[in-house]
Amino acid sequence: MTYKEQIIKERLPRHIAVIMDGNGRWAKARGQERFMGHSQGVVAVDKVTMAASSLGVEYLTLYAFSTENWNRPKAEVDLLMDLISETIKKYIDKASKNNVRILVIGDLARLTDKARSNLSEAMRLTEQNDGLKLVIALSYSSRWEIINAVKAIAEKAKVGELDPSQIDEQLFSNYLTTANIPDPDLMIRTSGEYRISNFLMWQLSYSELYFTDTLWPDFDEEELCKAIVDYQRRERRFGKTSEQMSK
Ligand code: FPP
Repeated sequence: MTYKEQIIKERLPRHIAVIMDGNGRWAKARGQERFMGHSQGVVAVDKVTMAASSLGVEYLTLYAFSTENWNRPKAEVDLLMDLISETIKKYIDKASKNNVRILVIGDLARLTDKARSNLSEAMRLTEQNDGLKLVIALSYSSRWEIINAVKAIAEKAKVGELDPSQIDEQLFSNYLTTANIPDPDLMIRTSGEYRISNFLMWQLSYSELYFTDTLWPDFDEEELCKAIVDYQRRERRFGKTSEQMSK
């Protein structure tokens, strides 16, 4: 039986977040330039997006470029940024045909005007789609996001629009780039690395974590289904006991 056939439709994770890792190693193993790994990574992005959409997953968040990735050699940064923003622009039609809404989170102020306008267009033109929400994390890091939220909350407190005693988890979540997006149920990281790497650290508090040795360019629908099946075999307790959960 395939993993796809083993999925329990009624217990799909609502939100899957992915750290797409291993593009460079995939290319190196083939004696190719790193960039070939990234462009094959785009093919995997398409496969996984279409699979998540047809399964009925509500949110798919992909870590496409971290704040730390700005420290890579300039040539790779420029190529990656172009690849990501052009891919998203070209994807608008396919997204719309499949009722996929594109959202982007991250420090977009650091992007070029061209990249920013491609992304704004993708968000605007897919705004009405109410199927899968494809959230691209770009120039994103959790620490950046949390510091930003703290600054915004402190400003409000300073001008007297908010009393510090009002700050709770819900209010804080509303200041994050993921306000209105439910926390991920499942986080997948490819390529045999076992780290969170500054990705959705607040939001992943209760997520199930799934790690696979598969390199991102080789990740496909069946790999996604395998992760979902693994998730469905686990018991999520949110700090409670098993007995409490079965009531
Ligand atoms: C990690 O592999 C991957 C990235 C830094 C880039 C991910 C980007 C894509 C897959 C491009 C397409 C994305 C969208 C949303 C259109 P790595 O370079 O760190 O690989 P390595 O660890 O093997 O060196």
